[in-house]
Amino acid sequence: MMKILMTLLMSAATLSAAAVDISSPDGALRLNVDVDAAGTPVYSLDYKGKQLVAPGKLGLSADETRFTDGFRIVGMDTVTVDRTWKPVWGEYDKVRDHFRELALHLRAENPDRELILRFRVFNDGLGFRYELPVQKGSNYLTLRDELTEFNFTGDHKLYCIPGDYDTDEYLWSETSFSALPQALGNYRRHSEAQRTGGTTIQTPMLMKTADPVYVNIHEAALDGYPAMLLDVDTEKNAMSAHLVPDRLGVSAYLQLPFNTPWRTLIVSDDARDILASQLVLNLNEPCKIEDTSWIKPMKFMGVWWEMFTGNQKTWAYSDDYLAKPGVTDYSKLKPNGRHPANTENVKKYIDFAADNGIDGVLVEGWNEGWEDWASFRKNRQFLFDKPYPDFDLPYLRDYAKEKGVKLIMHHETAANAADYELQLDRAFQFMKDNNYDAVKTGYVGAIIPRSEHHTSQWMVDHARHVIERAADYKIMVDSHEAPRPTGLCRTYPNWLAQESARGGEFESMGGNPPSHTCMLPFTRLKGGPMDYTPGLFETRMSYYNEGKDSQAGTTLARQLALYLTMPSPMQMACDLPENYQRFPDAFQFIKDVPVDWSDSKYLEAEPNRYITVARRDKNSDDWFVGAITDENPRTATIDLSFLPKGEKFEATIYEDAPDAHWKDNPQAYRIRKVEVDSRKKLKQPLAAGGGAAIMLRKK
Ligand code: NOJ
Ligand code: CA
Repeated sequence: MMKILMTLLMSAATLSAAAVDISSPDGALRLNVDVDAAGTPVYSLDYKGKQLVAPGKLGLSADETRFTDGFRIVGMDTVTVDRTWKPVWGEYDKVRDHFRELALHLRAENPDRELILRFRVFNDGLGFRYELPVQKGSNYLTLRDELTEFNFTGDHKLYCIPGDYDTDEYLWSETSFSALPQALGNYRRHSEAQRTGGTTIQTPMLMKTADPVYVNIHEAALDGYPAMLLDVDTEKNAMSAHLVPDRLGVSAYLQLPFNTPWRTLIVSDDARDILASQLVLNLNEPCKIEDTSWIKPMKFMGVWWEMFTGNQKTWAYSDDYLAKPGVTDYSKLKPNGRHPANTENVKKYIDFAADNGIDGVLVEGWNEGWEDWASFRKNRQFLFDKPYPDFDLPYLRDYAKEKGVKLIMHHETAANAADYELQLDRAFQFMKDNNYDAVKTGYVGAIIPRSEHHTSQWMVDHARHVIERAADYKIMVDSHEAPRPTGLCRTYPNWLAQESARGGEFESMGGNPPSHTCMLPFTRLKGGPMDYTPGLFETRMSYYNEGKDSQAGTTLARQLALYLTMPSPMQMACDLPENYQRFPDAFQFIKDVPVDWSDSKYLEAEPNRYITVARRDKNSDDWFVGAITDENPRTATIDLSFLPKGEKFEATIYEDAPDAHWKDNPQAYRIRKVEVDSRKKLKQPLAAGGGAAIMLRKK
């Protein structure tokens, strides 16, 4: 249902001085937009009667012209929209998109310029973007800068990772405006990444005021434009947009008309609302894929973890690293005997997946090119239709089909995105010819073309191009090291998951503290699902490698809870089959847990501390609950009032044993069953770094 409240197109005279106010449908948020004495647009935002965002400037500047000042308001449209849409997959089977919109038409003379600022005020936050119509002057812009300011009223708490043009695989800092320089100073410079220096951070980031009010700042529908970082003024408690430039210093090459991505602020005084918010998805375009019947949420395993943990195991078929570029015939190379992507090993994974109802098996290291990986040659190239000789693709294709398991393709580009585009059609056709429907892509290293960063405009365009071509071939995508997600998975639901944050793989590289996964849902996940790779049962790295003493920041039971707290329609069971065989009763939960939901209820939440969430299976009446805590033990209160009244449910509880601890006793868990109904409030103990996972089945 769409209701048009009013459309105003007033004369310039009446409007030029008028500030405009617009509230969220429930009245809690009030946006004010004005044009200051210099003709610069300025906005501010109140929450529940108190200023949250102080007046901040808006504008864009290009080599050809500027959209920063000299403006007057020449018209405005307002509209209230209340509609519901159905995602192909996700946390909810329907999403309400309810907002008041203000489109402010601005004009400037000498030189002539036109700009529309479009604001949408939702009950859970604000989105706004710049719309550049065709101009009287140049319609090709070399954009240098975006002025957008986010000015705050106090030295609030910030949860953030450092600004970086190339990677987001960092641990989170819980800091404040004033303490930010010190917090960011603790980060080691990433070898291949270009850091932005002092006090720049990435989005999505989270803020918490003293009241408290929680604010998530990010962007929606990033397309045809670079990603946005935030430069922080630690004295003024302010931030401003910092667009990722190419190496020539240009942020974006635009052809008009053009709409920028939405700048988003999710706002609430209840931390659970930040997790439940669908604002970023709501600001993306509806699904562009007509027939979505081929898009299927899935669980998968992978010939993967053994390469992270087994020092001796490699992606490469041969140790002859100097083989390329001279070698063109891989059949002349000798297998190194430590290459797990071989026919026999992959067969074992297929068998295990088939026996346990796991939909897919990912195989990394199956194709030519990994020899170059080790030497990081400048023109490194992977071939996406050339299996190594010990990976019998036709045989495995037929074997997997017979067993009812899908093989998942892997395309590691080593950041040679230019070459990937050249191979793309051949690679996708090769997949279809061999019964593959899903691909994991990767961009480790410095981007080729060298002019680009992982999150500059060219790579944002590349990512959209890959996803569109994949849709043409009916291929689902899980991308690693791609620009961080901004809700485009609504428009292209074949984009099932992305990494774009520090994932579970880091458990083999020093470890992720338990608080890490209490942070990601408040930040990174607001853009879209993450391929975090949960399901790690053997958490001590010494088990895999003598002498390695690091340990994953988790108990075994907590790994099960991650299937609820880190929802993704493409969810891995990351551990080795042999480790699941050691704990078959706990593995039962991974077999049972769905990956697609009709409803979600966030029961408890505090960033960096704890999350408790309940979700209803999309394909049954079963509910599942996941609860996690940080390094401190905690008792979760699980109020089951979401269950249908008067119905009895059997709860199967996978929990930390009383003596469990992420460091000293991670594998101590218990499984118990209790009968519950909607009147029950479970008091659920969680160990330090622990968690609990519950299946609720109607009796
Ligand atoms: C980094 C990815 O995040 C990881 O999952 C993958 O296995 C390696 N690159 C190799 O492609
Ligand atoms: Ca990665």
